[in-house]
Amino acid sequence: MKRPNCLEEQEFRIVMNKKLIVANWKMLPQSLAEAQEILEFTNDYLESLNDLSSADSSGGGREFSLVFCPPFVFIEEVAKIIKMSHLEHEAFLGAQDIATDDKRALTGDISGPMLAKLGIQYVIIGHSERRWKLGESDEVVNKKLKLALKNELIPIVCIGEKIKDKNSSKFLEEQVNKTFKDLTADEVGKCIIAYEPVWAISTNPGAKPDTPVSALESISTIKKVLTNNWPLATNHYLYGGSVNSSNVDGFLKEKEINGILVGGASVNKEEFVKILEMAHSIK
Ligand code: 13P
Repeated sequence: MKRPNCLEEQEFRIVMNKKLIVANWKMLPQSLAEAQEILEFTNDYLESLNDLSSADSSGGGREFSLVFCPPFVFIEEVAKIIKMSHLEHEAFLGAQDIATDDKRALTGDISGPMLAKLGIQYVIIGHSERRWKLGESDEVVNKKLKLALKNELIPIVCIGEKIKDKNSSKFLEEQVNKTFKDLTADEVGKCIIAYEPVWAISTNPGAKPDTPVSALESISTIKKVLTNNWPLATNHYLYGGSVNSSNVDGFLKEKEINGILVGGASVNKEEFVKILEMAHSIK
């Protein structure tokens, strides 16, 4: 099976060589005009980087790649804006969810073939808000993951414990096993894993970001389970949960953390560009 979607193997490797910044807009912003502002502000920043790199002839490309995951209602417009701006070479489009079936009548859902037709390359699978607030079981997540792969989309699979305690590792182990059940090593190798502890997500009561050291420990637990069960699979790992411009460098400096999944801070245009500035400054 070839590398999911429109990203060819080589292109995917180039993208993943850089830090991946995934903006999960969730159910924001409120209007298309605000979505446009975020994209234009980001575009202006990227253009300024380009001007700088041509001025000092360093040829210095960006140190990051971007994925925007807007609410479904804005996806087509966001795709157009990306295509017509400088973002075309910098940013990819992601969906926040996928239906559990490609064809069946499922009111309110959007199928994998529909996503692929819209030019979407990535899809978030098993976000904790769907798992815990909407009751999405591991079985449903597993089904969605298989359909994302079938439709050649790159899955960003969210894994994370609800509470940090002595059982956290065991919880992660079980969640990984159930989420990736019956997948081949080749398929598991096509997934990006986002370690996103539920307790660290900014909108949850008492949320605070994980520390890079502790996030790395959890990522290592996840990696161990994956490599034990699917020996040939190599994955890319993101961290998500209250990431902002003051803590992002701690995560991105870690070699084992290949990027970040950002919620709240990704719909605040100034804060988002500050995150990109930090990401760009990390070598
Ligand atoms: P916050 O960055 O707002 O904590 O959200 C994280 C998240 O859920 C991204 O998927």
